[in-house]
Amino acid sequence: MRIILFGPPGVGKGTQAKLLAEEFGIYHISTGDLLRAAVKSSTPLGLKAREYMEDGNLVPDEVMIGLIEEVLGSRKAQKGFILDGFPRTVAQARALDELFERLNIKLDRVISLRVEHEEVIRRLSQRRMCKQCGRIYNLQQLENGGASRCENCGGDLYQRDDDKPETSRHRLDVYVKETKPLKNFYRQSGRFTQIDGMKDIPVVHNTILDLLLKNGAA
Ligand code: AP5
Repeated sequence: MRIILFGPPGVGKGTQAKLLAEEFGIYHISTGDLLRAAVKSSTPLGLKAREYMEDGNLVPDEVMIGLIEEVLGSRKAQKGFILDGFPRTVAQARALDELFERLNIKLDRVISLRVEHEEVIRRLSQRRMCKQCGRIYNLQQLENGGASRCENCGGDLYQRDDDKPETSRHRLDVYVKETKPLKNFYRQSGRFTQIDGMKDIPVVHNTILDLLLKNGAA
């Protein structure tokens, strides 16, 4: 299975990608997670990316295209992958198509999640993440379950700096300007399906599974 999960910040890409990656044993390639890990360890990539991420802006295309080339060429990607957070500009999408051709990779589907913007802001303000393993939670789950540490690894939960309302709104503006136009790019290629991301997490997951089965990708 080789798919792209597409949509605005906070729509649920990471949540759905993690479920699919566990179920199918394939590589979840989250460019956001890769960048956050690089920032945390102050690698050259992290030093380049930090300021852009803090301000809610996109990291420059040449940096991201270099990163994705490295990741898609790795052994881990050979069994299949879910791309989450890449591509985000038309230049990235063009570079990705070239890369797929070069590496002889056939993309199964681009699945776009649609959620109303106010709901995106609400979800981002309520998101908490595990510092250690990156597992995603929301405040409602935590209040219902009473957990204050990660259920998976016991790590501390934190709120991402770029999830504060002002930065979230800016990220949404950046999405509308830079990333949303990609919908047309992929619609024209006949590989694009949009699904309703407003439903509950398991319902969205089942919709994605049905779609992948129907397209022979799962
Ligand atoms: P990144 O980490 O990729 O952020 P994003 O795309 O903005 O996406 P998010 O992680 O915010 O949201 P998500 O859709 O994964 O939602 P989630 O599942 O967590 O990127 C961060 C930064 O890195 C960028 O701003 C940029 O600077 C840089 N970057 C990354 N890639 C780049 C690229 N290609 N080019 C340039 N720069 C790049 O869910 C959110 C919350 O909602 C959670 O609390 C979750 O529990 C909850 N939730 C999920 N689904 C549902 C549901 N169905 N119902 C109710 N709640 C739900």
